[in-house]
Amino acid sequence: MREAGVYAEVRPHDTPAAQLASARGIVISGGPNSVYEPGSPSIDPEVFSLGVPVLGICYGLQLMARLLGGTVERGEKGEYGLAHLELTRPAPLFEGIPPGKFQVWMSHRDLARSVPPGFEILGNTETCSVAAMGDVSRRLYGVQFHPEVVHTCYGRQIIENFVLKVSGATPDWNPKLRIPIVTNYIREAAGDRSIFFFVSGGVDSTVAFTLCLRALGERRVRGIYVDTGLMREGETDFVRAVFDRIAPGAVVIEEAEPRFLGALAGVSDPERKRRIIGEEFVRVQEEILESGHFVEGDWVLGQGTIYPDTIESGGTAKAAVIKTHHNRVAGIQRLIETGRVVEPLSSFYKDEVREIGRELGVPEELLERHPFPGPGLAIRCLCSDETRPVARVEDGWIAPVHSVGVQGDSRSYAPVLILDQPLAEGIHDLATALINRISGINRVVAAAGSREAIGSLRVLPAALTPRRLTRLRLADAAVRRLSRESGFDREVWQFPVVLIPLGTPERPDSVVLRPIDSVDGMTARSVPMDPALLTVMTRELLDLEGISAVFYDLTHKPPATIEWE
Ligand code: XMP
Repeated sequence: MREAGVYAEVRPHDTPAAQLASARGIVISGGPNSVYEPGSPSIDPEVFSLGVPVLGICYGLQLMARLLGGTVERGEKGEYGLAHLELTRPAPLFEGIPPGKFQVWMSHRDLARSVPPGFEILGNTETCSVAAMGDVSRRLYGVQFHPEVVHTCYGRQIIENFVLKVSGATPDWNPKLRIPIVTNYIREAAGDRSIFFFVSGGVDSTVAFTLCLRALGERRVRGIYVDTGLMREGETDFVRAVFDRIAPGAVVIEEAEPRFLGALAGVSDPERKRRIIGEEFVRVQEEILESGHFVEGDWVLGQGTIYPDTIESGGTAKAAVIKTHHNRVAGIQRLIETGRVVEPLSSFYKDEVREIGRELGVPEELLERHPFPGPGLAIRCLCSDETRPVARVEDGWIAPVHSVGVQGDSRSYAPVLILDQPLAEGIHDLATALINRISGINRVVAAAGSREAIGSLRVLPAALTPRRLTRLRLADAAVRRLSRESGFDREVWQFPVVLIPLGTPERPDSVVLRPIDSVDGMTARSVPMDPALLTVMTRELLDLEGISAVFYDLTHKPPATIEWE
């Protein structure tokens, strides 16, 4: 909606209708629950009587159907990923869309079986007879598909139609024009104090830092970059170079590698790895804050918190954990309570932050970086406590490397199927079918190349050692260089490179390539690679010390996650 130039806010599902009466339009979002389960999130039904246009998306459609007298049931089968929508009746929501079927992105099993009184079915897919519904006179609409994702053709058009035509809002929002307002806010919040930042080299903290520089001048803004030793090849140098350009001398590097690797020694469980890194980071932060000698005089803490981080009811439980580590730990919470935290980006989305950064002259190479997880390479360097062989099965081999996945609403931790098939068209569909058929796996990979027969590889005991981190760093650097040179990096949203302890005693590890496309990381599609690029990449990776094989992850999210952990 904001991309359509109209200001929009996120509110909790239980917001009373009276508080929404002045809105020009209301969207009810999707969600993972079933509307017929006791205790599932609902909304104040009066929302539909306000006379304000409403658009329900996915769960939002189902909630609308149920609350207004239609029926919602569990479908005979799920509909995940691409589907083809046929519009069966004209409606203002779909104005400007040419006749004929078009591609939409679906992710549901529940569906509306019948529409409420006054509603009409507006469109269907092969699996879903109520893929779009509406009561045109009351301006109430529901769509089962996701107009907000890029894989839905005309998704943007549908949202613009809802915001501008159905709701009659006028475009009034442009993040770049907010820069003077935000700089004023920073000056007021800081008063005569300086601002101190923990910078990460990511987009948010860099843009927030630059805004503060603009507001307060170079002498009053300082930052520390904590090098955990879990970063990518060349990362610290990159961060140093970026800040030398933005404000020479304003950011110092804190070397903390021995602390982090020491705390992680011998730990292989993914959740423990995460916890240790989070706790260690907090400890380092608190020590630095308490020491107080990073900046002279009185100071406040600046943070790159963005709007999605501040939406309490949104986000996943895991998102909540991520943010506790970084922006809301106890020490920082105390600073917030005493008015000593400034978050200039807290009302902006990522794309808006990029736009602001561009306007401020933040280097493009930084703004366009792929997201990189806070715990760094630690969650891409899998460990193992024992030796185990791969097992032959009908479609390939089961590698007993446990990787993280999401199945239903919870995280799974299961082995991986290595396909016994050459990479070819249709292999992604085959992977999806096999995951649904074979229980106990959450990923399917294809072998892109190996130095030994796959059947002779073993999972070997492996820890998070400097040697393995170096191996992963080199593999990651090679993949990044080749993706950049070939332009493939622009086709993907993120491209994790994962080291798994599968190999031989001489070459104990393998590399997994995980190029994905996504909008927000919550769902993702495995992206097919050009065979020539994959061949070159594989050859280079197999030449690295210690690498036995290279795999290419064919699994979408869900059922897999993006990271392997
Ligand atoms: P998963 O693996 O859950 O990842 O599909 C979704 C997205 O989140 C990123 N990620 C993190 N980002 N701190 C972060 O800042 C974290 O602890 C973290 N864990 C996962 C991941 O890279 C992907 O983009």
